[in-house]
Amino acid sequence: MAVSSPDPSPGSPGSRSLRVRLLVSGAVAAVAAFGVVMVVPDASAAAGTLGAAAAQSGRYFGTAIAASRLGDSTYSTIAGREFNMVTAENEMKPDATEPQRGQFNFSSGDQIYNWATQRGMKVRGHTLAWHSQQPGWMQSLSGSSLRQAMIDHINGVMAHYKGKLAYWDVVNEAFNEDGSRRNSNLQGTGNDWIEVAFRTARNADPSVKLCYNDYNIENWSYGKTQGVYRMIQDFKSRGVPIDCVGLQTHFTGGSSLPSNFQTTLSSFAALGVDVALTEVDVTNASTSQYAGLTQACLNVSRCVGITVWGVRDSDSWRSGESPLLFDGGGNKKAAYTSVLNALNSAGPIQTTSPTPTGGSTSSPPPTQGTGNRIVGAQSGRCIDVPNASQNNGTRVQLYDCNGQTNQTWTLTSSKQLTVYGTRCLDAAGSGNGSAVQIYSCNGQTNQQWNVNSNGTITGVQSGRCLDVWGTGNGQQVQIYDCSGQANQRFSLN
Ligand code: G3I
Repeated sequence: MAVSSPDPSPGSPGSRSLRVRLLVSGAVAAVAAFGVVMVVPDASAAAGTLGAAAAQSGRYFGTAIAASRLGDSTYSTIAGREFNMVTAENEMKPDATEPQRGQFNFSSGDQIYNWATQRGMKVRGHTLAWHSQQPGWMQSLSGSSLRQAMIDHINGVMAHYKGKLAYWDVVNEAFNEDGSRRNSNLQGTGNDWIEVAFRTARNADPSVKLCYNDYNIENWSYGKTQGVYRMIQDFKSRGVPIDCVGLQTHFTGGSSLPSNFQTTLSSFAALGVDVALTEVDVTNASTSQYAGLTQACLNVSRCVGITVWGVRDSDSWRSGESPLLFDGGGNKKAAYTSVLNALNSAGPIQTTSPTPTGGSTSSPPPTQGTGNRIVGAQSGRCIDVPNASQNNGTRVQLYDCNGQTNQTWTLTSSKQLTVYGTRCLDAAGSGNGSAVQIYSCNGQTNQQWNVNSNGTITGVQSGRCLDVWGTGNGQQVQIYDCSGQANQRFSLN
């Protein structure tokens, strides 16, 4: 028997997707045997824009936006229609945001931020510490003075955007082609400058994902790729805060899609970071390369999204190579269709992907059955019913995991999360901020939850994510628009 799932609200990761069918009869047997939930796409679900198509598998599709072009209606119409993530092409870089030491200017960055968020798009910050596009005063600094200026810059910019962005490219392009560190003025302040940047960033805004971003790290066997990989591996082993690696994916200027691109993505992901394609452009917009890079991302569950570096060919920093998805007149190119088709063929979030380095690149599949904790990724704390209350309407909270029955949840085949055998995790409404509580199980959709392999748990009725605003004991759980941030990721284990 095939059962259609309800259609959740648009825009949430993994939503529109979400015309999915749980193959209940066969799948339940598989679940019982292997603990795997099988989800397949509904063939009727093909999405008509890049953003909607990517959202089917819980991913985003973004573009770089130049503030100076937003007044061009062809440009802004395409950008507003097709994408659901935005990167400021130049407006959040150090020369733009701190033109004089200690004097910050966010006018252009905010113009892009406001334009994007007014349209329901998310924003990726780019970039905080970089050898290029430094303001003149910074270029002339060195040693401890430059180190302090970098820290102050990170603090100043991140304070302005605190809680607002999905990702920050904290450090950009710090490596040479051979895998050694680039000999920049920042490197001259000491080899620890990158980890200091990341530690500063985490303290400045714990809610945003912190990324290292670079070009020419797409080929797994290339020296630079290996150099960056070793740094991420080192950071993860020593607890330096880093959440993601951005592979710029400029297949222009003589570069092209390497056959081992997926291996690179899955190898980085196996270190425990998200990966993203952050600045994609391809010489003459080769359809096979665009389809191939898209498919590589789709095949790696921790590849969270793809951003192209501009809207039309005429907007590109390499316009002579016609490298984007829309021509100068704003028409969709063949490469657009190849990307859209690849995204549409992916369907819902995949639960497995190749693991060339031996590590798992996938989030664990949802665990169906008894005895699970629901552990917050950001807090490490468990979803808990205060005082082991069984009263209907008791709001659930975060609390130190203790293995007791008031923290023990069972995911049923009808998508309920039950506690004590009789009570269900229940959304008291469907809007942002609605309380999440326990209530007698009644079979309604406000008591049904999708446990997604991107780590979110979304309400079937609302399409919104389980969410907490803090990490401490007693923080109450609510539902909120899915943002991709760590306070909305929970593992059922
Ligand atoms: O706005 C001024 C304009 O007033 C002036 O007349 C003109 C004269 O050259 O310059 C204009 O500024 C240019 C700016 O782009 C806006 O168009 C800068 O010169 C130019 O250097 C700058 O280039 C940017 C480049 O980064 C700088 O490194 C590109 O737009 C931008 O696409 C590019 O983006 C980088 C990523 O940040 C990092 N990865 C590589 C990627 C491509 O180079």
